[in-house]
Amino acid sequence: MTVAISHEGAIAIVTVDNPPVNALSQALRQALMEAVSVIDADESVTAAVLICAGRTFIAGADVSEFDKPAAPPHLPDVVASIEAAKKPWVAAIHGSALGGGLEVALGCAYRIAAVSANLGLPEVKLGITPGAGGTVRLPRLIGISEAVDLVTTGSPVDARKAEALRLVDAVVGGDLLENAVAVARDAANRPRPQPICERSLPAVDAGFWERAEKSVAAKAKREIAPLRALACIRRASEEDFATATAFERETFLELRGSAQAAALRHVFLSERAAARPPELGGVTPRDVRCAAVVGGGTMGAGIAAALRDAGLPVILVERDEAAVERGLVNISRIFDGFVKRGRILPEVAAERMAGVTGTDDYGVLADADLVIEAVFEDLAVKRAVFSRLEMVCRADAVLATNTSYLDPEEIGEGLAQPERFLGLHFFSPAHVMKLLEIVPTGKTTAGVLATGFALARLLGKIPVRAGICDGFIGNRILKVTRAQAERLLLSGATPTVVDAAMRAFGLPMGPFEAQDLGGLDIAAFQRKAAHERGEVPFAPVADRLCAMGRFGQKSGGGWYDYRHGERAPQPSEIVGATIVEEAAGWRQETWDEVSIADAIILPMVNEAALILEEGMAVRAADIDLVKIHGYGFPRWRGGPMHYAQERGLAEVVGVLDRLSASGLAEQPCAALRRAAEDGGFRSLEGR
Ligand code: 3HC
Ligand code: NAI
Repeated sequence: MTVAISHEGAIAIVTVDNPPVNALSQALRQALMEAVSVIDADESVTAAVLICAGRTFIAGADVSEFDKPAAPPHLPDVVASIEAAKKPWVAAIHGSALGGGLEVALGCAYRIAAVSANLGLPEVKLGITPGAGGTVRLPRLIGISEAVDLVTTGSPVDARKAEALRLVDAVVGGDLLENAVAVARDAANRPRPQPICERSLPAVDAGFWERAEKSVAAKAKREIAPLRALACIRRASEEDFATATAFERETFLELRGSAQAAALRHVFLSERAAARPPELGGVTPRDVRCAAVVGGGTMGAGIAAALRDAGLPVILVERDEAAVERGLVNISRIFDGFVKRGRILPEVAAERMAGVTGTDDYGVLADADLVIEAVFEDLAVKRAVFSRLEMVCRADAVLATNTSYLDPEEIGEGLAQPERFLGLHFFSPAHVMKLLEIVPTGKTTAGVLATGFALARLLGKIPVRAGICDGFIGNRILKVTRAQAERLLLSGATPTVVDAAMRAFGLPMGPFEAQDLGGLDIAAFQRKAAHERGEVPFAPVADRLCAMGRFGQKSGGGWYDYRHGERAPQPSEIVGATIVEEAAGWRQETWDEVSIADAIILPMVNEAALILEEGMAVRAADIDLVKIHGYGFPRWRGGPMHYAQERGLAEVVGVLDRLSASGLAEQPCAALRRAAEDGGFRSLEGR
C-alpha cells in the first residue's frame, strides 16, 4: 500500500509509505489523487495531515521513471488537487522534502517540519528544472530573490532556515504527527490561508534579472538547467500562474529528455549503486568505532580530519615527538581552514582536535578497529609499519594502506593475517575529495572489503573497488591523459592551447596546469619505477623539464613560468624550445578544441576498456565515478564511459584508428572494438 488513510477524530491522516524514500512513482501520484477525492467526500473530516513513513518525507519525483514517457496523473495535477481540496491539508515533514516532495508540500495549506528536516528543489542537480509548480509557487511564498537562490543552486535548507524563509509555518520538537494533528484541528476553526497559486508576487528592482542571469551563468558554467530554472522564475514573476506553470512544465519535459539530464541521472544512480555493490550483499562489515592513522603528512592529516568529521575518535601515530607535533599542526590547519570559511565554529574545531590523540607509541593502537597507513611511498618503510601493527593491534582490527602506486600484495606479504589487509586509496586533499578507491588483495575477506565500503559511507565518500595494477583505476588512466597531452605538444599544439581546450570540454583545469599545481616530481618518480620494471613510459618533454628542476609552481616553473608570488601561468620560452627539439620528426598538425579533447579523452576511454576487460574495475559506471570524483571530469558529461557510449563506440573506435595511424595514440584495444560491435561496455563487465 503506498497511501493509507486513518482518522483521529475529524482529522484524516494520509500516510505515504513508498520505500526507500517515498519517491512520487505513478502509483503514488494516483493514490494521492484518490486520497484527495476520498477526503473531500468524507463529511466527517475537517482537515488532513500528510505524513510519510520511513526515514523521510517525499524525496521527489521517481528518477527511475524519467527514461519513460510521463504517465498520468501528472504531478502538477496532484499538487493542484491538494491545493484545491475542500479541506485544508497539513504537510508534516521529516527527513527530506525535495523536488516534487516540496512541491506537494507547497500545495498544502500548512507546512510544519521536524527539527532535523531539510527542504529544497535540487532538480538542477539532475539537469532539469522543477516540473510541478516549484518555480511558480516558491517565489510567491518566500520571495523572488530567495527562490532564485534555492532553485538555481539546488541546495536544500535545514528546518530552521526554512522557518526563517517562511517556507514552513513552524518547526516542531516532539511527536511530529501529534503536532500536525493539532495544527489540522486548529485549521478547522480558522480562515484558510490564501492558496499560494492565488498570491501575488512582489516586483523586483530594475536590473535584478540581468544581475541574476550573470551570476547564475558564472556558477553554472556549461550546465544548462540553472539558467533555464531562472527563466522559469522570471516567467512566474511576469505572467499569470497558469501561463507560468505551463512554461515550467514545458521546460521540465524538454530538459528531462536532454543529454545533460541523462548524464547527471546516470551519475546520481551510479553513486547510489556504488555505495552498495550487489556482490557484497549480505556481507556484514566489521564495526569501526575508533580509527588510527599512521603518518601525519599531507595524506595522513587529511584522512584523520575526514575521520574526525565523521565523528570517529582518531589516533595519529608518527615517527617521533617532533613529527607528532607536525602531524597535529597539519590536522589543526585543516579545521582552522573550515573555521575561516565559516564551515564550522571555532568550538567545533576545538572539539574535533580534542578527538585526535597524537603519539609515537604504537602500543596505543590496541584500541583501534581500523588503522590506515599513510607513511612514505616506500615498500620497506610500509612493510616495517605493518609488521609493527601486527604486533600491537587486536586480531580483528582492519589494516589498510593508502599507497598510490606500490603493489598492496607486496606490502601485505609476510603478514600473519593477510585476510584483514586491503588498500584504501584516498585522494588529495583527503578531507575534501569524494573518491575512495578500495583495493582488496587476493586474500582480503569479503567482510574486510565490506568494511572499506561501510567506511566510505560513514565518511560521505564514493567508494569504487579497484583491482591491483599500476595506479589502480584513476592514476592508470591519468598516465594516458598525460602521455596524450605530450603527443599533442609534439605534433603542433602548445600547453596553453591544450589546457584551454580541456577547460572548454568542462574540466576545471587542463593537464599541464594540473601538473604544475600538483608537482611533476611524483609522476617522474613513478616513471623511474616503471623504467626499472622494463617499461617505457612516454614523457619526453616532462622528463626534460624534471631534469632542469622544473617541477611546477613549487619550483617557480614547470610547463609554464610563474611570476614571483603569482599563480597565473605564463607561456615559457624554455618549454617551447624543449618541445621544438623533442618534436623533431613529428608531423605538425593544426589542432582545434574538439580534436584536442578527442585526442585526450578517447585514449582514456580505450585504457578504461582495458581496465574493465582485465577486471580491474567491476562496472563501467565505477570508472565514471573515479574520473568525476577524483579528477574533475565534468559531471554533466556523465564520466568518460557514459560520454563514449552516448557518442557511439563505433565512432570512438574510428577516431582512435585515425589517431593511431598518425602515431598520435595507441591503437584501440580489442576489448573496445568488441564493446563497439556488441553490447557496449556492459559486455566487458563482471570479469
Ligand atoms: N527517485 C528514485 N529513487 C530514489 C530517489 C528518487 N528521487 N532518491 C533516492 N532514491 C533511491 C536511491 O537510488 C537509493 O536506491 P537504492 O537503495 O536502490 O540504491 C535509495 O533511494 C536511497 O537513496 P540514498 O542512498 O541517496 O539515501 P540517503 O538516505 O543517503 O539520501 C536523499 C536520501 C537525501 C533523499 C537522497 O536520495 C536524494 O537526494 N535523492 C534525490 C532527491 C531529488 O533529487 N529529488 C528531486 C527529484 S526530481 C523532481 O522531483 C522533479 C519534480 O520537480 C517534478
Ligand atoms: P608525506 O611525506 O606528506 O607524509 C608521510 C608521513 O609519514 C610523514 O609525516 C612521515 O613523518 C610519516 N612517517 C614516515 N615513516 C613513518 C613511520 N614509520 N611511522 C609513522 N610515521 C611515519 O606523504 P603523503 O603525501 O602524505 O603520502 C603518504 C602516502 O599516501 C604515500 O604512500 C603516498 O603515495 C600516498 N598518497 C599520496 C597522495 C598525494 O597526493 N600526496 C594521494 C594518495 C595517496
